[in-house]
Amino acid sequence: MRCFIPLFLVSIWVGSVFSKDAALETVSKHGQLAVDGVNLVNQYGEKVQLKGMSLFWSVWMPYYYNKTTVDGIKEYCHSNIVRPMMAIDTQDGGYLTDPEGETALIDAVIDAAIEDDMYVLVDWQDFEAENHLEQSLFYFDRLSKKYGSYPNIIYEPYNEPITLEWSSLVKPYHEAVIKTIRANDPDNLIVLGTPQWSQRLDLAAADPIQNQTNIMYSLHFYAGTHQQWERDITKAAIDAGLPVFVSEYGTVNADASPPVNLTETLAWYEFMEERGMSYVNFAVSDKDEGAAALIPGTPPEKVCREEYLTESGKIVVEHNKA
Ligand SMILES: *[C@@H]1O[C@H](CO)[C@@H](O)[C@H](O)[C@H]1NC(C)=O
Ligand SMILES: *[C@@H]1O[C@H](CO)[C@@H](O)[C@H](O)[C@H]1NC(C)=O
Ligand SMILES: *[C@@H]1O[C@H](CO)[C@@H](O)[C@H](O)[C@H]1NC(C)=O
Repeated sequence: MRCFIPLFLVSIWVGSVFSKDAALETVSKHGQLAVDGVNLVNQYGEKVQLKGMSLFWSVWMPYYYNKTTVDGIKEYCHSNIVRPMMAIDTQDGGYLTDPEGETALIDAVIDAAIEDDMYVLVDWQDFEAENHLEQSLFYFDRLSKKYGSYPNIIYEPYNEPITLEWSSLVKPYHEAVIKTIRANDPDNLIVLGTPQWSQRLDLAAADPIQNQTNIMYSLHFYAGTHQQWERDITKAAIDAGLPVFVSEYGTVNADASPPVNLTETLAWYEFMEERGMSYVNFAVSDKDEGAAALIPGTPPEKVCREEYLTESGKIVVEHNKA
């Protein structure tokens, strides 16, 4: 008689074999995320790693805010996470001047990510979000009501605080947004911006947010500018118990200019891989600058195809699948 293996056992077995290719590590495999100590874990409590791509500012590259692009990011950039970047307050507009238009762009990316079985990190792309608290609370209330029941959703309510005033400005902002989100969504991950363009993890580690679950703190680095000093303060923060998520990184200088610093980029990958950290590259963009993953003029139908990747794009895709 043939041996019959029940399907549920097969799926438990499959569930604990992890591929280095992020595109295979889908939401249907990992489900509801949680934070356990400093680690991001899946629905079985196993450590899980998200690797993927940020889009460029919504006001400047709206043509990438749809499913054609998200499909490309998953399949050809080997990603299990996409990060729409909602402009808030720029000289060319943003959420403050066109809340409905901006909300629709972000929703298109969220809907595509859900269809594509990917996680989606919704970024409130603001540098002084404490000055726009009312708008932010309105937006995150709506977002968490509409999508909070999907395990795909991850919130990033403050991209990069410029200020160093963590305890008096940034932390109270986060606490207010967390309260609003948690009223609708008790468990999805919230990634919190840290002072000085999300670099000063030490300030957050000295005064972390109390009595909340499934929150992590964001680290942003650009390998040409932020190097060993940044790794040292991040390591100290993690060692002190702070869970850290790299919601934005680049292979080039902090102003997005070339060159790619390969040595430092590889040092960062090693640092993140050793700790099983999640990381999101900036950006799926065809702007003529070092940080862009795509060459100028790349249409949505060609996003992440090899012949359209820049030097930076090729390095990033290599790490998303290996
Ligand atoms: C996405 O936008 C691009 C550019 O506007 C367009 O060519 C493509 O058909 C759109 N895809 C979908 C699924 O709407
Ligand atoms: C956290 O919870 C503890 C125990 O319930 C309580 O004593 C403390 O005041 C809380 N802290 C904050 C900031 O809410
Ligand atoms: C990368 O950064 C290191 C350390 O600052 C520096 O020595 C090196 O010249 C940089 N490489 C490039 C290509 O800029």
